Amino acid sequence: MKVTVVGAGAVGATCADNIARAQLADELVLLDIKEGFAEGKAQDMMQTAALLGFDTRISGSTNDYAKTANSDVVVITSGLPRKPGMTREELIGTNAGIVKGVTENILKYSPDTIIIVISNPMDTMTYLALQSTGLPKNRIIGMGGTLDSARFKYQLSQHLGCSPADLNAVVVGGHGDTTMIPLMRLATWNSAPVTNFLNEEQQKQIVADTMVGGATLTKLLGTSAWYAPGAAGAALVESIVRDEKKLFTCCVSLDGEYGQKDICLGVPVTIGRTGWEKILDFKLTADEQVLFNKSADAVRSMNDVLKTL
Ligand code: LAC
Repeated sequence: MKVTVVGAGAVGATCADNIARAQLADELVLLDIKEGFAEGKAQDMMQTAALLGFDTRISGSTNDYAKTANSDVVVITSGLPRKPGMTREELIGTNAGIVKGVTENILKYSPDTIIIVISNPMDTMTYLALQSTGLPKNRIIGMGGTLDSARFKYQLSQHLGCSPADLNAVVVGGHGDTTMIPLMRLATWNSAPVTNFLNEEQQKQIVADTMVGGATLTKLLGTSAWYAPGAAGAALVESIVRDEKKLFTCCVSLDGEYGQKDICLGVPVTIGRTGWEKILDFKLTADEQVLFNKSADAVRSMNDVLKTL
Protein backbone atom coordinates (compact mmCIF):
# COMPACT_ATOMS: atom_id res chain seq x y z
CA MET A 1 0.00 0.00 0.00
CA LYS A 2 1.13 3.51 -0.77
CA VAL A 3 -0.39 6.52 0.96
CA THR A 4 0.30 10.21 0.31
CA VAL A 5 -0.46 13.04 2.69
CA VAL A 6 -0.51 16.44 1.02
CA GLY A 7 0.34 19.27 3.40
CA ALA A 8 3.03 18.64 6.02
CA GLY A 9 1.59 21.09 8.55
CA ALA A 10 0.34 20.00 11.95
CA VAL A 11 -2.72 18.06 10.70
CA GLY A 12 -0.87 16.39 7.79
CA ALA A 13 2.13 15.44 9.90
CA THR A 14 -0.05 14.06 12.72
CA CYS A 15 -2.05 12.05 10.20
CA ALA A 16 1.18 10.68 8.68
CA ASP A 17 2.54 9.85 12.14
CA ASN A 18 -0.61 7.83 12.95
CA ILE A 19 -0.45 6.04 9.58
CA ALA A 20 3.18 5.07 10.15
CA ARG A 21 2.70 3.91 13.75
CA ALA A 22 -0.20 1.68 12.71
CA GLN A 23 1.79 0.41 9.70
CA LEU A 24 -1.06 1.14 7.35
CA ALA A 25 1.27 1.55 4.36
CA ASP A 26 4.59 0.19 3.05
CA GLU A 27 5.26 3.59 1.57
CA LEU A 28 4.15 6.96 2.88
CA VAL A 29 4.84 10.23 1.04
CA LEU A 30 4.50 13.61 2.69
CA LEU A 31 4.28 16.51 0.24
CA ASP A 32 4.34 20.25 0.90
CA ILE A 33 4.97 23.42 -1.10
CA LYS A 34 7.38 24.85 1.48
CA GLU A 35 10.95 24.00 0.43
CA GLY A 36 12.43 21.15 2.48
CA PHE A 37 9.56 21.11 5.01
CA ALA A 38 8.05 17.74 4.08
CA GLU A 39 11.53 16.22 3.71
CA GLY A 40 12.39 17.41 7.22
CA LYS A 41 9.19 16.09 8.79
CA ALA A 42 9.57 12.78 6.94
CA GLN A 43 13.15 12.35 8.12
CA ASP A 44 12.22 13.23 11.72
CA MET A 45 9.39 10.66 11.61
CA MET A 46 11.64 8.02 10.03
CA GLN A 47 13.99 8.48 12.98
CA THR A 48 11.18 7.29 15.25
CA ALA A 49 10.99 3.97 13.34
CA ALA A 50 13.82 2.40 15.35
CA LEU A 51 12.16 3.50 18.58
CA LEU A 52 8.58 2.61 17.70
CA GLY A 53 9.33 -0.41 15.54
CA PHE A 54 7.42 0.33 12.36
CA ASP A 55 8.46 -0.60 8.82
CA THR A 56 6.67 2.09 6.80
CA ARG A 57 9.12 3.97 4.55
CA ILE A 58 8.35 7.68 4.85
CA SER A 59 9.69 10.21 2.38
CA GLY A 60 9.14 13.90 1.85
CA SER A 61 8.71 15.92 -1.33
CA THR A 62 8.66 19.63 -2.10
CA ASN A 63 5.81 19.83 -4.59
CA ASP A 64 7.15 16.99 -6.78
CA TYR A 65 3.99 15.00 -7.44
CA ALA A 66 5.90 12.34 -9.43
CA LYS A 67 6.98 10.99 -6.01
CA THR A 68 3.33 10.37 -5.12
CA ALA A 69 2.76 8.14 -8.17
CA ASN A 70 0.49 5.13 -7.72
CA SER A 71 -0.81 6.07 -4.30
CA ASP A 72 -3.75 3.95 -3.15
CA VAL A 73 -5.03 6.69 -0.84
CA VAL A 74 -4.28 10.43 -0.75
CA VAL A 75 -5.16 12.65 2.21
CA ILE A 76 -5.43 16.35 1.39
CA THR A 77 -4.76 18.68 4.31
CA SER A 78 -3.36 21.64 2.37
CA GLY A 79 -4.63 25.16 2.78
CA LEU A 80 -4.76 27.79 5.47
CA PRO A 81 -5.96 26.79 8.95
CA ARG A 82 -8.36 28.94 10.97
CA LYS A 83 -7.12 31.75 13.19
CA PRO A 84 -9.01 32.54 16.44
CA GLY A 85 -12.39 34.14 15.69
CA MET A 86 -12.44 32.91 12.08
CA THR A 87 -15.05 30.52 10.72
CA ARG A 88 -14.01 27.62 8.52
CA GLU A 89 -16.10 29.24 5.77
CA GLU A 90 -13.86 32.31 5.61
CA LEU A 91 -11.09 30.16 4.17
CA ILE A 92 -12.92 29.31 0.97
CA GLY A 93 -11.29 31.81 -1.42
CA THR A 94 -7.73 30.76 -0.67
CA ASN A 95 -8.29 27.08 -0.07
CA ALA A 96 -10.45 26.41 -3.14
CA GLY A 97 -7.56 27.26 -5.49
CA ILE A 98 -5.15 25.17 -3.45
CA VAL A 99 -7.40 22.10 -3.23
CA LYS A 100 -8.24 22.23 -6.95
CA GLY A 101 -4.55 22.40 -7.90
CA VAL A 102 -3.62 19.58 -5.52
CA THR A 103 -6.33 17.19 -6.77
CA GLU A 104 -5.35 17.81 -10.42
CA ASN A 105 -1.69 17.11 -9.69
CA ILE A 106 -2.47 14.02 -7.63
CA LEU A 107 -4.66 12.46 -10.32
CA LYS A 108 -1.94 12.93 -12.97
CA TYR A 109 0.14 10.38 -11.09
CA SER A 110 -2.47 8.33 -9.21
CA PRO A 111 -5.58 8.18 -11.40
CA ASP A 112 -7.10 5.32 -9.37
CA THR A 113 -6.58 6.76 -5.91
CA ILE A 114 -9.14 7.38 -3.19
CA ILE A 115 -9.08 10.96 -1.90
CA ILE A 116 -9.76 12.01 1.69
CA VAL A 117 -10.40 15.76 2.08
CA ILE A 118 -9.55 17.49 5.35
CA SER A 119 -9.00 21.07 4.11
CA ASN A 120 -11.62 23.63 5.16
CA PRO A 121 -14.35 24.53 4.59
CA MET A 122 -14.42 20.76 4.33
CA ASP A 123 -17.93 20.22 2.89
CA THR A 124 -17.31 22.70 0.10
CA MET A 125 -13.77 21.45 -0.55
CA THR A 126 -15.12 17.88 -0.87
CA TYR A 127 -17.77 19.09 -3.32
CA LEU A 128 -15.12 21.02 -5.25
CA ALA A 129 -12.85 17.95 -5.43
CA LEU A 130 -15.74 15.89 -6.78
CA GLN A 131 -16.87 18.49 -9.32
CA SER A 132 -13.42 19.43 -10.59
CA THR A 133 -12.10 15.88 -10.96
CA GLY A 134 -15.24 14.09 -12.14
CA LEU A 135 -14.07 11.02 -10.18
CA PRO A 136 -16.62 8.34 -9.25
CA LYS A 137 -18.34 9.69 -6.12
CA ASN A 138 -17.27 6.79 -3.89
CA ARG A 139 -13.63 7.79 -4.21
CA ILE A 140 -14.01 11.24 -2.61
CA ILE A 141 -14.47 11.31 1.16
CA GLY A 142 -14.65 14.39 3.39
CA MET A 143 -13.35 13.72 6.89
CA GLY A 144 -15.41 16.21 9.00
CA GLY A 145 -18.08 14.06 10.62
CA THR A 146 -15.51 11.50 11.75
CA LEU A 147 -13.77 14.21 13.76
CA ASP A 148 -16.99 15.80 14.99
CA SER A 149 -18.32 12.42 16.13
CA ALA A 150 -15.09 11.81 18.08
CA ARG A 151 -15.52 15.22 19.72
CA PHE A 152 -19.16 14.38 20.52
CA LYS A 153 -18.02 11.17 22.23
CA TYR A 154 -15.42 13.14 24.17
CA GLN A 155 -18.04 15.59 25.45
CA LEU A 156 -20.42 12.74 26.33
CA SER A 157 -17.67 10.84 28.16
CA GLN A 158 -16.87 13.91 30.28
CA HIS A 159 -20.47 14.11 31.50
CA LEU A 160 -21.03 10.38 31.84
CA GLY A 161 -17.65 9.66 33.42
CA CYS A 162 -17.12 6.81 31.00
CA SER A 163 -14.65 5.69 28.34
CA PRO A 164 -15.15 7.41 24.97
CA ALA A 165 -14.44 4.00 23.43
CA ASP A 166 -17.63 2.63 25.02
CA LEU A 167 -19.79 5.19 23.23
CA ASN A 168 -21.56 5.08 19.90
CA ALA A 169 -22.52 8.56 18.74
CA VAL A 170 -22.60 10.36 15.43
CA VAL A 171 -22.65 13.92 14.18
CA VAL A 172 -24.27 14.38 10.77
CA GLY A 173 -24.70 17.40 8.50
CA GLY A 174 -22.05 19.99 7.75
CA HIS A 175 -18.64 20.47 9.41
CA GLY A 176 -19.39 24.04 10.48
CA ASP A 177 -19.94 25.50 13.95
CA THR A 178 -23.62 26.05 13.13
CA THR A 179 -24.21 23.31 10.54
CA MET A 180 -23.25 20.13 12.41
CA ILE A 181 -25.94 18.01 14.06
CA PRO A 182 -24.94 15.81 17.02
CA LEU A 183 -27.62 13.09 17.11
CA MET A 184 -28.18 12.81 20.87
CA ARG A 185 -31.30 10.68 20.39
CA LEU A 186 -29.27 7.86 18.81
CA ALA A 187 -26.17 8.03 21.03
CA THR A 188 -25.59 4.96 23.22
CA TRP A 189 -23.31 3.91 26.07
CA ASN A 190 -22.68 0.43 24.81
CA SER A 191 -26.31 -0.28 24.02
CA ALA A 192 -28.11 1.96 26.53
CA PRO A 193 -29.37 5.35 25.26
CA VAL A 194 -27.19 8.10 26.79
CA THR A 195 -30.40 10.10 27.28
CA ASN A 196 -31.19 7.67 30.16
CA PHE A 197 -28.30 9.20 32.09
CA LEU A 198 -28.28 12.88 31.08
CA ASN A 199 -30.80 15.58 31.90
CA GLU A 200 -32.04 18.09 29.31
CA GLU A 201 -29.59 20.76 30.39
CA GLN A 202 -26.62 18.41 30.15
CA GLN A 203 -27.74 17.25 26.72
CA LYS A 204 -27.99 20.84 25.48
CA GLN A 205 -24.56 21.65 26.87
CA ILE A 206 -22.97 18.61 25.22
CA VAL A 207 -24.49 19.45 21.85
CA ALA A 208 -23.40 23.09 22.09
CA ASP A 209 -19.84 22.19 23.18
CA THR A 210 -19.53 19.62 20.41
CA MET A 211 -20.58 22.11 17.76
CA VAL A 212 -17.92 24.63 18.77
CA GLY A 213 -15.33 21.92 19.49
CA GLY A 214 -12.98 23.13 16.75
CA ALA A 215 -13.48 26.84 17.53
CA THR A 216 -12.76 26.26 21.23
CA LEU A 217 -9.43 24.69 20.36
CA THR A 218 -8.59 27.39 17.80
CA LYS A 219 -9.03 29.95 20.57
CA LEU A 220 -6.84 28.01 23.00
CA LEU A 221 -4.13 27.13 20.48
CA GLY A 222 -4.08 30.25 18.28
CA THR A 223 -4.57 28.01 15.23
CA SER A 224 -6.79 25.05 14.46
CA ALA A 225 -6.43 21.66 16.13
CA TRP A 226 -4.35 18.76 14.78
CA TYR A 227 -4.29 15.64 16.99
CA ALA A 228 -7.93 14.64 16.53
CA PRO A 229 -8.17 15.85 12.89
CA GLY A 230 -4.99 13.89 12.05
CA ALA A 231 -6.20 10.78 13.89
CA ALA A 232 -9.59 10.99 12.16
CA GLY A 233 -7.87 11.09 8.76
CA ALA A 234 -5.73 8.07 9.68
CA ALA A 235 -8.77 6.12 10.94
CA LEU A 236 -10.36 6.51 7.50
CA VAL A 237 -7.11 5.45 5.79
CA GLU A 238 -7.08 2.35 8.01
CA SER A 239 -10.63 1.36 7.13
CA ILE A 240 -9.76 1.74 3.43
CA VAL A 241 -6.43 -0.08 3.28
CA ARG A 242 -7.62 -2.91 5.56
CA ASP A 243 -11.04 -3.01 3.92
CA GLU A 244 -12.62 -2.85 7.38
CA LYS A 245 -16.00 -1.52 6.25
CA LYS A 246 -16.25 0.44 9.50
CA LEU A 247 -19.05 2.93 9.94
CA PHE A 248 -18.02 6.59 10.07
CA THR A 249 -19.84 9.85 9.44
CA CYS A 250 -18.21 11.26 6.31
CA CYS A 251 -18.97 14.03 3.89
CA VAL A 252 -20.05 12.30 0.68
CA SER A 253 -22.01 13.10 -2.45
CA LEU A 254 -25.75 12.71 -1.88
CA ASP A 255 -28.08 11.70 -4.64
CA GLY A 256 -31.46 11.79 -2.91
CA GLU A 257 -30.29 10.14 0.35
CA TYR A 258 -31.36 12.11 3.42
CA GLY A 259 -33.58 14.16 1.08
CA GLN A 260 -30.67 15.98 -0.60
CA LYS A 261 -28.86 15.95 -3.92
CA ASP A 262 -26.05 17.82 -5.70
CA ILE A 263 -24.25 18.36 -2.40
CA CYS A 264 -21.60 16.69 -0.22
CA LEU A 265 -22.69 16.43 3.41
CA GLY A 266 -21.96 14.30 6.47
CA VAL A 267 -23.95 11.05 6.73
CA PRO A 268 -23.16 7.58 8.15
CA VAL A 269 -21.24 5.50 5.59
CA THR A 270 -19.19 2.33 5.52
CA ILE A 271 -15.58 2.80 4.45
CA GLY A 272 -13.69 0.03 2.67
CA ARG A 273 -11.20 -0.72 -0.08
CA THR A 274 -13.25 1.06 -2.77
CA GLY A 275 -13.83 4.23 -0.74
CA TRP A 276 -17.18 4.98 0.85
CA GLU A 277 -19.34 1.99 0.05
CA LYS A 278 -22.78 2.36 1.56
CA ILE A 279 -24.85 5.21 3.01
CA LEU A 280 -26.83 4.10 6.06
CA ASP A 281 -30.29 5.54 6.53
CA PHE A 282 -30.55 6.43 10.23
CA LYS A 283 -34.18 7.50 9.70
CA LEU A 284 -34.10 11.05 11.04
CA THR A 285 -37.11 12.37 12.90
CA ALA A 286 -38.99 15.29 11.33
CA ASP A 287 -37.15 17.72 13.64
CA GLU A 288 -33.74 16.25 12.79
CA GLN A 289 -34.57 16.38 9.08
CA VAL A 290 -35.38 20.09 9.43
CA LEU A 291 -31.92 20.65 10.93
CA PHE A 292 -30.33 18.53 8.19
CA ASN A 293 -32.07 20.56 5.48
CA LYS A 294 -30.96 23.82 7.12
CA SER A 295 -27.41 22.52 7.24
CA ALA A 296 -27.67 21.62 3.54
CA ASP A 297 -28.94 25.13 2.70
CA ALA A 298 -25.95 26.70 4.47
CA VAL A 299 -23.45 24.39 2.75
CA ARG A 300 -25.15 24.91 -0.60
CA SER A 301 -24.77 28.68 -0.35
CA MET A 302 -21.06 28.12 0.43
CA ASN A 303 -20.79 25.88 -2.62
CA ASP A 304 -22.35 28.67 -4.69
CA VAL A 305 -19.40 30.88 -3.76
CA LEU A 306 -17.21 28.51 -5.80
CA LYS A 307 -18.92 29.75 -8.96
CA THR A 308 -17.81 33.33 -8.24
CA LEU A 309 -14.10 32.52 -7.75
C1 LAC B 1 -11.20 21.30 13.20
C2 LAC B 1 -10.69 21.61 11.82
C3 LAC B 1 -9.65 20.65 11.36
O1 LAC B 1 -12.40 21.13 13.34
O2 LAC B 1 -11.74 21.70 10.91
O3 LAC B 1 -10.38 21.22 14.14
